[in-house]
Amino acid sequence: MRKYLLAIAFVFHAIVSTAQSPDSNSTGSYALVAGGSKGIGYSIAEALARRGYHLILIARHQDSLVSAKEKLQKQYGIRVETLAFDLSKNESATEIANWCSERNIPLKMLCNVAGYGGANDYLSLPLDTLRYMIDLNVGSAMSLTLTLLPLLEKNAPSYIMNVGSMAGFAPIPIKNLYSATKSAVLFFSYSLHYQLEDKDISVSVLCPGPVFTKPEIREDTKKKLGWLGMQLAVSPKKVGEIAVRETLNKKLVIVPGGLNKFMAFFIRFLPRRLVTSIYNKAGKDK
Ligand SMILES: NC(=O)c1ccc[n+]([C@@H]2O[C@H](COP(=O)([O-])OP(=O)(O)OC[C@H]3O[C@@H](n4cnc5c(N)ncnc54)[C@H](OP(=O)(O)O)[C@@H]3O)[C@@H](O)[C@H]2O)c1
Repeated sequence: MRKYLLAIAFVFHAIVSTAQSPDSNSTGSYALVAGGSKGIGYSIAEALARRGYHLILIARHQDSLVSAKEKLQKQYGIRVETLAFDLSKNESATEIANWCSERNIPLKMLCNVAGYGGANDYLSLPLDTLRYMIDLNVGSAMSLTLTLLPLLEKNAPSYIMNVGSMAGFAPIPIKNLYSATKSAVLFFSYSLHYQLEDKDISVSVLCPGPVFTKPEIREDTKKKLGWLGMQLAVSPKKVGEIAVRETLNKKLVIVPGGLNKFMAFFIRFLPRRLVTSIYNKAGKDK
């Protein structure tokens, strides 16, 4: 009897201490979250902090970076470095990688989160906005991956998480350019997953449906998708937690939410022309 009680106490202790202690993989390690001061990026940063990762957060605005840093350091007792960069600029990836290499940062995870432009119709975009969207959504993820690869390789096993969207699963006429940039992120991640397998670097792509990180997204989702859109929405906190958990599980495509997974399956299963014409009609009806 005493033996059984000791065994139960041992298992209980093991469960409790696993739940409270940092991920054993994370001790002293850093994760870089590009676009980590707000929204989904902040939630990803928080899910990493809960697992004991130190963080490097990147965004354009110093004020929101400082407020994210203070909150995360205070709540999780980890170290947070902040770098203010516009990731759409050509030189940013090289400067960020130089900063990390000079300090020999033990980088375990790169999260390419920053992106722009969900609601805008391609036909009404000014040229500079069009270039900005491509440079940020596609260019920054591809450049940061390449410039930070030596550090990720040095600290392997390591992880890359790119943030795509469910909008990347099929062409969406009203969000033409946005869905094209997100499908580029999806294809890029698929290829890279296999290219980096030998280096023990796992690549994942997070493809969320609607996440109400700001009021415009809620309004746009309600207008275009109505009741269904509200059912598809997943909170930023939940998205961040699922994203980090599944990236550490080396899952290639991550779609948070049960209904979203179901929809994502059908969108990819149905003929592309049919899905595109449904999206086109849905966009015109509103
Ligand atoms: N929200 C959704 O419904 C949804 C759905 C599917 C996919 N996504 C994707 O998820 C990602 C995050 O979306 P979100 O809604 O969380 O966005 P968000 O709330 O606007 O946050 C974006 C983050 O990226 C930073 N950022 C934006 N532009 C930047 C730039 N040029 N250079 C450096 N940092 C920049 C922002 O800080 P600063 O403004 O200070 O730079 C902020 O930290 C995007 O890639 C988006 O396409 C979002």
